[in-house]
Amino acid sequence: MLELNSKKVKNDVHFLGKLKKSSFTQLYKGIRKKEGRILTDDQVKNLPKLADHFLQNEWKLREESSARFLNHIRKKGFLTILEIGCGNGWFSHLLANVNKNRVVGQDINQFELEQAARCFGDENLSFINCTDFNSLPNNSFDLIVFNASIHYFPTPNDLVQVLAEKLTSKGEIHVMDSPIYKTKMSAESAEERTQQYYMAKGFPELSRFYFHHTQSAFLVKKMHYRPSRINKIFGNKNPFQWIQIKV
Ligand SMILES: C[S@@+](CC[C@H](N)C(=O)[O-])C[C@H]1O[C@@H](n2cnc3c(N)ncnc32)[C@H](O)[C@@H]1O
Repeated sequence: MLELNSKKVKNDVHFLGKLKKSSFTQLYKGIRKKEGRILTDDQVKNLPKLADHFLQNEWKLREESSARFLNHIRKKGFLTILEIGCGNGWFSHLLANVNKNRVVGQDINQFELEQAARCFGDENLSFINCTDFNSLPNNSFDLIVFNASIHYFPTPNDLVQVLAEKLTSKGEIHVMDSPIYKTKMSAESAEERTQQYYMAKGFPELSRFYFHHTQSAFLVKKMHYRPSRINKIFGNKNPFQWIQIKV
């Protein structure tokens, strides 16, 4: 049984360990608002389906990748799962709906976590605000997943070392739906574009929190999905890799 040992609970969000303050959370909220990415509770409850919305094509791709991931875990039976950077919790909720998995959605943005807890009250699902992964219980998770969040972490390998202690003996770490660049040059060009984008939106400081990882930043155990022309022909359009990290 997974024990979280939270220090306090506010609006159904558990707080774990000592919280480090960062300007990221306010900036992130600001840009999400400006981009029109803050969805209503009713919209969040339906994700990844999002109709009649300017982001609907993007969510079609999320629908594709999340379905692929859920198929993968369905075969594994009951799992304890940690989603890092769960945002409004839609994916944690889907993970919890498979095999009655025990799921913990982690983030550092209280406003997103409160929406997650409001929208998804499943008994086997908890949301935690936690900036120090050391405060998570050891040997506890069969699976840790970063869905569209690894690009907010500067050094994936260091993180994997900390998270490895949190895994059960056959535990796995997966990364999906984040851009991972083939070469240093393509990562650098993307970094410039990101800086220009945040500058134009009035949030230049946010560039400091967005990391353009190349494939060499990861020790890959298995590539579960690689975007390719063949995949596209078969209707798989998601442009992001899904990798399992060697632990
Ligand atoms: C693009 S959203 C993805 C949300 C969700 N996983 C999804 O698939 O839609 C990235 C999330 O990562 C979170 N994040 C950024 N830095 C983080 C950190 N150090 N620890 C936990 N979450 C973080 C952000 O707050 C945000 O909610």
